[in-house]
Amino acid sequence: MQQFYDLADCGAEQVDKLLATAGRLQKHPEPRALEGKVLSLLFLSPSLRTLASFQAGMARLGGNTFVISPDMSIHGLETRPGIVMDGEAAEHIREAVPVIASYGDAIGIRAFADRRNIETDIADTEYKGLGALCSTPLINMESAINHPCQSLADWKTMDDLAIPSQSGKFVLSWAYHPRALPLAVPSATVHMAAMRGMDVTVLRPDGFELPAPIMEKAKAAAARSGGSVTETDDRQQALEGAHVIYAKSWSSTRHYGDRIGDQKLRTGLEDWCIDDPWFETADRDCRFMHCLPVRRGVVVSDRVLDGPRSVVIQEAQNRMYAQMAVLYHMLGSGE
Ligand code: CP
Repeated sequence: MQQFYDLADCGAEQVDKLLATAGRLQKHPEPRALEGKVLSLLFLSPSLRTLASFQAGMARLGGNTFVISPDMSIHGLETRPGIVMDGEAAEHIREAVPVIASYGDAIGIRAFADRRNIETDIADTEYKGLGALCSTPLINMESAINHPCQSLADWKTMDDLAIPSQSGKFVLSWAYHPRALPLAVPSATVHMAAMRGMDVTVLRPDGFELPAPIMEKAKAAAARSGGSVTETDDRQQALEGAHVIYAKSWSSTRHYGDRIGDQKLRTGLEDWCIDDPWFETADRDCRFMHCLPVRRGVVVSDRVLDGPRSVVIQEAQNRMYAQMAVLYHMLGSGE
């Protein structure tokens, strides 16, 4: 495996293989599998789980990591193309990325969403531009429109909990947040659940529809897997019989890049905070999922997050096993 950019690129067979490896490494550690290997990690936006789980996962396989981020003691990092560098920044990302990549056997990159132009972000222009500067195997640690490591971990979490795939009802619900957040997790999640063969409902207020290309891609995945994908603003209809309520906030697609327009649209939507009544007509064993970090009392109530339905810690722990599987197939003896 030379690239881990999108679960869609892997196909169902490769995902099965990765999940099998993740489960095996969890039960039967292989502390020398990646001995002598080095993973470079470049973070252009903040992280807790991705940073810690890649470092821990690589260490558990006998390899090493190093981390670079703009907050560290590095020369100021310029990212804009075609700029005359007569300001503070002394290092351009165009040299920094291939230098960092050259020190490792593989590189993980977390890029940021431009969040001004939706077409640019859907095309993942920033991440793809950085990836083109690397000659080593490349892992997407979250880009403008994708978060495959999170999706693989979420898939594993649902398998671990025996949440039904075929005929399982997965509700991806928009949740209130004071700021306009990127589309990476909702885009990756709707596709992952569709690829798993689930009946997926995207529940969101008017103006927060997921972009058409993301929905079309998820529908195509559902057509292959035997699942389905629909979108609604009808909360009652969406939540009935749900096996999973996966909460996430995202930017208004109608006002993408327009902070004031987005802000106006989300004002008054504070009741989109997942709470116990949301589960009243759901399946008896319905689970609450979220990628974290999550704002308590804003996105979800304490009683749901701290209650038995919540599997957010399992999801976060599975980040490590899912990524160990990716690293194993990329740098070890796996294909
Ligand atoms: N879910 C996730 O990617 O968390 P971090 O932003 O903390 O890495």
